[in-house]
Amino acid sequence: MQPIGPLMIEHRLIERLLHLMEQEFARIKANIDVDPEFAFVDPIFIDTAVDFIHTYADRCHHGKEEDLLFKALAAKDLAPEHRHMMAELIQDHAWARETTANLVKAKEGYLLEAPGALTDLMARMEELLAFYPKHIDKEDKHFFIPCMAYFSEAEQADLLARMQEFDRQLIHEKYRGVVEGIEHHRGCRTCH
Ligand SMILES: [Fe+2]
Ligand SMILES: [Fe+2]
Repeated sequence: MQPIGPLMIEHRLIERLLHLMEQEFARIKANIDVDPEFAFVDPIFIDTAVDFIHTYADRCHHGKEEDLLFKALAAKDLAPEHRHMMAELIQDHAWARETTANLVKAKEGYLLEAPGALTDLMARMEELLAFYPKHIDKEDKHFFIPCMAYFSEAEQADLLARMQEFDRQLIHEKYRGVVEGIEHHRGCRTCH
């Protein structure tokens, strides 16, 4: 398999999550139109969907693109259009990372029933729903395939192996973070 294989497979899963998010977004919007007082977000869905976007789409997927694929490409003598598109994709990722961080904050605010949190949460969801299909289309249709020509077969195999190692490490990073988050939260509570 080429190293872009796992990235394209990940795109398909991200699209499935976006579809579910779109459905939830439409349901809330319809409720707001009927009676904003009683509009609500399914807390289990939003917690899970935000974790997916944060951990899978941003950290795992964009992480492999940026830290491995784009880094390896940066060392090559890229055609101007590919160099230009890679810079654009990196900018897209920076925007998505910031918007994802804001989505996490909006979700936490919503779960804590902060005033205005629903509007904020809906706005962040809408931004990401608009962003991902365009970004994925650029990579799938205009960037990934031509970029593979810059690598030999051995380089592609090495890149794929490093992507698999990246994924292997990530599960430990994720759950170390979960434990540290709880420890931090408890520490804060005991010092107050
Ligand atoms: Fe990307
Ligand atoms: Fe991607």
